Amino acid sequence: MITLFPDMFAGVFGSSMMWKAQKDEIVQLSTIDLRDFGLGPRRQVDDTPYGGGDGMLLMIEPLWKAVEAAKANDPSAKVLLMTPRGQRWQQQLAQEYSETDHGYIFICGHYEGYDERILQLVDEQVSVGDYVLTGGELPAMTIIDSIVRLIPGVLGGENSATEESFADGETLEYPQYTRPQNYNGLEVPEVLLSGNHAEIAKWRKKNSLKK
Ligand code: ADE
Repeated sequence: MITLFPDMFAGVFGSSMMWKAQKDEIVQLSTIDLRDFGLGPRRQVDDTPYGGGDGMLLMIEPLWKAVEAAKANDPSAKVLLMTPRGQRWQQQLAQEYSETDHGYIFICGHYEGYDERILQLVDEQVSVGDYVLTGGELPAMTIIDSIVRLIPGVLGGENSATEESFADGETLEYPQYTRPQNYNGLEVPEVLLSGNHAEIAKWRKKNSLKK
């Protein structure tokens, strides 16, 4: 991740499955502080747009140098730019990305945008949806989470990642229940207690389609 806010990643990457995947050496996640490539004594990374307009843009030079530094570390890595203009992220892409054997460099922008020339170094532009966030950090975390959990060995059960919502096309996960059987009058569907595996499978299929 190339970011002005590396601290934002600490909580997400230091917890739960993302933490475990790193501990088990299934993935390696690291941040590059764009500020380290800033210009002058103030380590400037942004400036006003040519032609006028509101806000600040990330300057080309610090970004370019940060990408070069990331590439020096991982020469075969693909460069992804987080932007609402990008291709909409979806499960199918998460699946594809989880199966590649190269790394990814995520550029997380801030402010009003980037100097357009950074696209020279970018392989894919990716969006997490048709809304604008203050930066690319949350999109990068979302995308990384959706990829890493699909890598074999990250989740506990062998089928956990493939059985659920979206993984088998557009079907959503069936409803699930755990103890107690009756919570203040709210009952678990009878069929799930029956031990009849064929009936349970039929019920799950029906109810995932319904969802
Ligand atoms: N940066 C700001 N908004 C974004 C979005 N929706 N997707 C990806 N990057 C972004």
